[in-house]
Formats: sequence, C-alpha cells, structure tokens
Amino acid sequence: MTMRNTAQPLKLLIVAGARPNFMKIAPLIRAIRVHNNRVRVGRRVGYYLVHTGQHYDKKMSEIFFTELGIPAPHINLGVGSGTHAEQTARTMAEFEPVCLRKKPDWVIVVGDVNSTMACTLVSAKLGYRVAHIEAGLRSFDRTMPEEINRLVTDALADLLLTPSSDANENLAREGISPSKIHLVGNIMIDTLRANLKRIRRTRLADQLKLEPKRFAYVTLHRPANVDDPKSLTLIFRELADLAHHLPVVFPIHPRTHKLLDRRHIPRNREPNLKLLEPIGYHDSLWLTKNALFVLTDSGGLQEESTYLGTPCLTLRPNTERPITIKVGTNKLTRHETLSGDINEIMHGHHPSGKIPKYWDGHTAERILKILLKA
Ligand code: UD1
Repeated sequence: MTMRNTAQPLKLLIVAGARPNFMKIAPLIRAIRVHNNRVRVGRRVGYYLVHTGQHYDKKMSEIFFTELGIPAPHINLGVGSGTHAEQTARTMAEFEPVCLRKKPDWVIVVGDVNSTMACTLVSAKLGYRVAHIEAGLRSFDRTMPEEINRLVTDALADLLLTPSSDANENLAREGISPSKIHLVGNIMIDTLRANLKRIRRTRLADQLKLEPKRFAYVTLHRPANVDDPKSLTLIFRELADLAHHLPVVFPIHPRTHKLLDRRHIPRNREPNLKLLEPIGYHDSLWLTKNALFVLTDSGGLQEESTYLGTPCLTLRPNTERPITIKVGTNKLTRHETLSGDINEIMHGHHPSGKIPKYWDGHTAERILKILLKA
C-alpha cells in the first residue's frame, strides 16, 4: 500500500534582488528540490521566488540564473535603480501585495542589500515570519548602507541563520534571543563547491592568456572607494603601476563605470591592465582560484578567497567578515599600505589560512532542516 502525503507543504517566499544574492539562493532551491524528491510521508516544501529587480542588466542578474541553474523567478518586481529611499520604497510597495497574496509560512531574505531590508520590513509589518540567511555580520560602520540594512533586518527577523561564530556573538550582544539564532555556515560556499569542478579553465582565461598565480584579480565598487573622484583616480594610478609587474584583471561594476564616465577619469591604456565588463560567476570563480592575489572591496570575494586559500587584500577600513582575517587569507589595506602589501605577497609572504567551521557545502541542507522544524 502506498502512503498518501497529506501534510500541507511548507510555503517559502524567497527574495533575491542584487548580484550577491543569487549565489545564496541557488543552494537553497537545490536543497528544496532534493528534499521534495526524497520525502514520502513528511512535509514537502513549496517556494515562490521573487526577484525585486534591484539589479537588472543581463551581466548583473540573468547570467547568474543561467550559470547556477536557478529557475526563473515567479515574479520580477522591476524596481530598478535610484536613491536608497527610492529603491527601498519601491521595493516595499511592490513586495507588499505579493506577500499578501502568497501568505507564506516564511519569507527568506539573504545578505545585506536594499532588497533584503525592504522585504523584511514589509513582511514583519504584515506579521509574516522572516528568516535571514547571513545574519549577524557587522562592520560597526554605519556609513555603509549595508550595515544599516543588516541592523534593521536582524532586529526584525524571526530566525537568524549565521555564517560564523562572530555573527552569533554580535547578535547576542544586541540582545537577540538565542533561540532565534542558528550557526549554519556560509551558504555561498555551497555554491562555490558545487561549481568548482565546472571551471577547470574558462574561455575568459584563454582569451586573456592568463597563467595560474601570474595575475591579480581586482573588483572595486563600494561607494567609499568609487564615489569619490580622488579615490577613484588614485585607484587607477595604483592599478597601472601594478600592471607593470603582472597582468591585472578588473571587471568594472556599472556603478564604477558610471562614475568613471561622469567624472571623466581616464582609464589607463597600460596593456596589462585588463578592464572588462562585469563577468559571470564561473569566470569570477576561476579568477579567484587562480589569481596570485585578489584586491577587492566585495564581501563575497573576501569569503571565496578564504575558502580557496588565495591571498586577499581588502581596500576598506573594516570588514563585517572578520573571520576571513582571523582564520582565512584576508587582510585589510589602505592606499598608503597597498604597494607594501602587494610587495609582500609577490615575495611569498602571506598567511595561508584555514577554512572556517561549517563552510562545507551543506549549509542549505542545515537551513532547510531548521525551517521544517521551526
Ligand atoms: C548593491 C548593494 C551592494 C552589493 C552590490 C553588488 C545595496 C545598498 N548595495 O550595490 O551591497 O555589494 O549591489 O553588486 O543594496 N546598475 C546598472 N545595472 C544594474 C544594476 C545597477 O547599471 O543591473 C548601476 C545603476 O547606475 C545604479 C548603480 O549601478 O544606480 C548602483 O546600483 P545599486 O543596486 O543601487 O547598488 P550597487 O552599487 O550595485
């Protein structure tokens, strides 16, 4: 006799809006499919995927859905760009009717972008439970828009799923009930591990004729680095100097691109400085794995380089991911210290690092188990 599965499925409303979100929802959706294929008597999981449209260019969004095998979103809210208030308000207004219509058991938000905070605010006010993946990270720098997003999201979320123990400590210090906090590990590493075998060598690596450990990979897009023309000019001068020593691969984020154009900052013609359009996940992973070092202000790259053991210099005064410094291969740098830090790496002096606890490729499964129990 076959048993009929009569339990109501658990209804998740998953939110993604900007580039760094896509690597964080892919493993969760995969874990849901695996669970549903296996479950006979227990509860199935249904999900509805909302793309807020914060990022909309093909190279900032669609390419990640294709490369990571994420099914097309059920709805795209098309909120687009704007000031923080405009983007947040548009996201809230567009998300509210979706939430009311879908009546989810849980709204799942990831990371720290404006979409994360906006959808959390809407859900909390409507009385829907919110689970935050990548909760508890703090840079303690409120000039960063992401820090405001993190604080608001974590204050309102019902389930705080953290990537590392420092995040648990931050949340405890903020008085959040321990019963809401679960150390689950880094979900981006699930994606990284699932894709490592697909990137033996990418077409981009061939086109640029890159040799492993003989180039630097650069990404810079934070307002603090690129919105100030003096800082942006200085960055381009430093990169041109570096390109005298080894090829420098720098895919330019649209925000950085726009500012270069608006301020008429000349891009250097140094042939070894390879300025590119934004690149996809597989190219970025190949570059991170094979670079001599990464120079970045991205949160994700600090973590990916730690996992891969690639030295990382973070051009920021602080990081919300201190574990990448304490345990991993990351080091903070400034314009004044950059050339010395690069020199050290070129002479082989950089800590080799270790992989933090639970950055093991099984974070999404742990999250799903917690959601099914909660
Ligand atoms: C956002 C996130 C940041 C994340 C980054 C990754 C917030 C506050 N910031 O910053 O945490 O690290 O994404 O990329 O949520 N643009 C395009 N095409 C697009 C998207 C943006 O041209 O598809 C341009 C627009 O001119 C826009 C600018 O980039 O005004 C900035 O985009 P926005 O989403 O506001 O912030 P990001 O700098 O991308």
